[in-house]
Amino acid sequence: MWRYFEMLPVKDVKNIVTLGEGMTPLRRLSHLASYLNLSSLIMKDESVNPTGSFKARGISAAVSKAKEFGIDRCIIPTAGSAGGAMAAYCAKAGIQCIVVMPEHTPDVFKMQCRHYGAELILVKGLINECAKKVEELKKQKDHFDMSTMKEPYRVEGKKTIGYEIAEQLDWQLPDVIICPVGGGTGLVGIWKAFKEMIELGWIKEFLPRMIAVQAANCAPLLASYKDSLNWKQNFSPQPSLAYGLAVPYPFGIDLMRKVIDESNGEVIAITENEISDGVKEIEQEEKMAISPEGATTWKAVSHLLVKNLISPNDKIVLLNTGSDHKSLEDLDGT
Ligand SMILES: Cc1ncc(COP(=O)(O)O)c(C=O)c1O
Repeated sequence: MWRYFEMLPVKDVKNIVTLGEGMTPLRRLSHLASYLNLSSLIMKDESVNPTGSFKARGISAAVSKAKEFGIDRCIIPTAGSAGGAMAAYCAKAGIQCIVVMPEHTPDVFKMQCRHYGAELILVKGLINECAKKVEELKKQKDHFDMSTMKEPYRVEGKKTIGYEIAEQLDWQLPDVIICPVGGGTGLVGIWKAFKEMIELGWIKEFLPRMIAVQAANCAPLLASYKDSLNWKQNFSPQPSLAYGLAVPYPFGIDLMRKVIDESNGEVIAITENEISDGVKEIEQEEKMAISPEGATTWKAVSHLLVKNLISPNDKIVLLNTGSDHKSLEDLDGT
């Protein structure tokens, strides 16, 4: 992703902390497309990133900038994947790292953090409880807080997905991009890239509709559209097979809403059964093993067609945000 260095916040190339993230492939999903009579269905496959998810991009940018600032201690609350990425990039940069993760997260996410030498703290509850723990610890331990949207550089790394989609499609953006969202850095970052590319004159003013997909078990964005003032009152978030989407009170919810509103987009919620069906369908039809988070985007397509929110002739890009590896045990029993 550092091919876009000039558009990234790091000033000196010697501060770049990279493990080879980015320039992930676009894969044509021709079997799934014909199943729903779609003319163009493509997946941007982030599973091949170091540490197995698109989190590598945001964390590469944030850790590089931390290095440039001379920061030597960081802390992060995580639903799973960002913690593993943080541990790996901090190890590479020689930065101390504390990861705070829900205790119900599968062991493989925890092992990844420990293998890279991070201190791992487990907390009962979802990522919002981890964020509270981080607030408490960061003062005691004087660690820099890398929470989603509370520092500005993770979005900068994530925006390179938008640059790549444009470059890989020969600067002709698709009609629709379907993106799984938790904290929202992917969605917000991609949109930021498109805005920048218009200013640069690299693409025309036409922009894709941005569809945000959440787990029905934890869909704060959807709840906030239904009742923007009181949605928190009756909101009872639950864990999801798509761990990365179980973010009950995203700090950047207004930024996500802005992207959806500006792009004439939509929010779709996907049930747990649909998530496991989605993973299996993609495996069977396309011979691809992807993350539960990524599989939500495929299931969202049918919802969007039924509601007439997309047309079969639209050029559709799905974002698979991670590899299947960390969820294999969970999915085996479904
Ligand atoms: C695999 C995966 N997909 C999607 C997401 C959601 O990402 P974002 O916080 O950028 O919305 C996460 C977040 O942890 C994740 O781990």
